[in-house]
Amino acid sequence: MLDLSVNLAGVTLKNPVVVASGTFGFGREYSQFYDLGELGGICAKGLTLHPRSGNPAPRIAETPMGILNSVGLENPGVDTFVAEELPFLRKFDTKIIANISGNTPEEYGIMCEKLSGAGVDMIEVNISCPNVKAGGLAYGTRLELAAEVTEEAKKHANGVPVMVKLSPNVTDITEIAKAVEGAGADAVSLINTIRGMRIDVNTRRPVLKMNTGGLSGPAVLPVAVRMVWEVAQAVSLPILGMGGVSKGEDAVQLMLAGACAVAVGTALFADPFAPLTVRDSLADIAAKQGLTAVSGLTGGVRPW
Ligand code: SIN
Repeated sequence: MLDLSVNLAGVTLKNPVVVASGTFGFGREYSQFYDLGELGGICAKGLTLHPRSGNPAPRIAETPMGILNSVGLENPGVDTFVAEELPFLRKFDTKIIANISGNTPEEYGIMCEKLSGAGVDMIEVNISCPNVKAGGLAYGTRLELAAEVTEEAKKHANGVPVMVKLSPNVTDITEIAKAVEGAGADAVSLINTIRGMRIDVNTRRPVLKMNTGGLSGPAVLPVAVRMVWEVAQAVSLPILGMGGVSKGEDAVQLMLAGACAVAVGTALFADPFAPLTVRDSLADIAAKQGLTAVSGLTGGVRPW
């Protein structure tokens, strides 16, 4: 028998496959396809203190092997999440991870108070959204601000584990990982999207209204594997690895690089069942390699 469970910062996931924030809404649409209790966890759509309508359209565009998005954190706000969406998500036997973005460190603190009081299992602190003017990348690319946001979140999370979502849009991601570890983070998740741009050659206009956006999908997997590997060597925090996972083998690569668990994101848009097929195929690979627990994959890469 293969043990599929993994431990992410003290939270036991029944299997290592969670869905990535921003690709699963609050689960309502996907719950029409399968029991969300099949998932290791759900990272809910990113929340802000107040509702946001996001950026103007067009804000999603296809790319070779991926998509560019500039959604801009459209969401109903943390209070509506607590009142209307969390009770729905709580019907399923899976872990609920709330994802938050703030304009100021104080806003992160206020949201952590509300969410920890509401009983989420973990809080993912997003300091890496490339599509907003305030907060977002400004926090994720500067050591002292990344640390300040982490400290504020920890202070108000009342013991709920805080996982900080890191940006790949930096010179050295390990420096940011070390800064948030020093500030008390319980885990890190990576990678968020890579900043990119497409231009319509006929109109000569950028395809996205915001000009640039964040690239995700299979094209970014090798970047994610490399960054997870680097971060795993630099800090002792557990890692939720993500970026371009669409097959079991992709997830296994991230775990061998050092991730305890993996998130499936963009693949969901083409195949709502992707997290389940990734889970099953990951389990097959682990079993064929003679493991008794999938957690045995974590950090198992044998570098030359
Ligand atoms: C967005 O809403 O623009 C994407 C969120 C993110 O990349 O963190």
